[in-house]
Amino acid sequence: MENHHILHCSCASRISLLFLALCLLFITNASAFNLTTIKFDEGYSSLFSDFNIVRSPDDKSVRLLLNRLSGSGIISSDYYNYGFFSAKIKLPADYAAGIVVAFYTSNIDTWEKNHDELDIEFLGNVNGKPWRFQTNMYGSGSLSRGREERYRLWFDPSKEAHQYSIFWSPINIIFYIDEVPIREIVRHPAMGGDYPSKPMSLYATIWDASSWATNGGKEKVNYKYEPFASEFKALVLEGCRVDPIEQISSTNCTDQIARLISQEYATIKPEGRNAMKWFREKYMYYSYCYDNLRYNVPPPECVIVPTEKERFRNTGRLREKMRFGGSNRRHRRGRNSRQRSRNSAASSGSGKEVAAAAI
Ligand SMILES: *[C@@H]1O[C@H](CO)[C@@H](O)[C@H](O)[C@H]1NC(C)=O
Ligand SMILES: *[C@@H]1O[C@H](CO)[C@@H](O)[C@H](O)[C@H]1NC(C)=O
Repeated sequence: MENHHILHCSCASRISLLFLALCLLFITNASAFNLTTIKFDEGYSSLFSDFNIVRSPDDKSVRLLLNRLSGSGIISSDYYNYGFFSAKIKLPADYAAGIVVAFYTSNIDTWEKNHDELDIEFLGNVNGKPWRFQTNMYGSGSLSRGREERYRLWFDPSKEAHQYSIFWSPINIIFYIDEVPIREIVRHPAMGGDYPSKPMSLYATIWDASSWATNGGKEKVNYKYEPFASEFKALVLEGCRVDPIEQISSTNCTDQIARLISQEYATIKPEGRNAMKWFREKYMYYSYCYDNLRYNVPPPECVIVPTEKERFRNTGRLREKMRFGGSNRRHRRGRNSRQRSRNSAASSGSGKEVAAAAI
């Protein structure tokens, strides 16, 4: 059975988009992850602007609002020493220019100078133009070595909720959308500390990035349409939980990490590889691995895929221009109201490098 789907998907580029989406659905249903969803209260806390955080009566979903007063954010109540982080997210519809919705892991509040981070960041757009998103990784404060990739989506993320996941183990990192692997980073010894390896929290935020998110800052958030709401549900936090107040290093995570890397989502199977190839060839429009102006030697974890590479110039950008604009300058958000002391984490991002690479 599964083989039929694989065959169909491997000739991806020749078939219609709708058919492909169905095809992916088949694949992913055939190997659905075994996930346990939690209530907000079982794993999350408010990060900033409580007044803009709206929890559902059953506490299984939460809406993060952005209005003219503030954005808002939530954070996992514990750190995770490796883990799998997932949520079904629905982005604001209508006029989303200037808005950023982020779903990411970080430990900047504890390791301000050498923090780790794994990002999924959605960048809003003007009416009629699609949301875009980027993934990124930092290890031990490697802010001068951004590892961004940028993509479009094969659906409208403001129409219904889709599942977005970050898998992080000592061996590899995988970003998923609806169980389609879209990016894998396999740990390479030469990465050294650039591979995230200290416990991280999971964050979800919505905020005003008018100065850069859409068309290089030309299109601002329009508060005539406030509040902008991003919904998060099917919340999953798996891995070795580490209480931030206790000594983080005193928790023995050996068994939990072994359990994590034995899960379905820890390894990409051949059908997943096909789906990933399809996604990257069709929807990726920037990769640091192909940006030879930025890195004349691609960072050690880069796997140069000839069919991907031929689509890109040596700036890491597509040879053929896509029909939407917008630059992606790195920016940093975050303020917090939790008991442990958190830094405001202002602009830790590598703005310059990314600005240079912006579409
Ligand atoms: C799914 O996970 C739960 C809890 O970890 C476990 O008890 C159950 O056996 C798993 N189901 C399958 C089909 O693997
Ligand atoms: C951690 O747990 C594993 C498996 O339970 C055990 O083999 C190992 O010795 C423990 N390590 C420490 C430092 O306690």
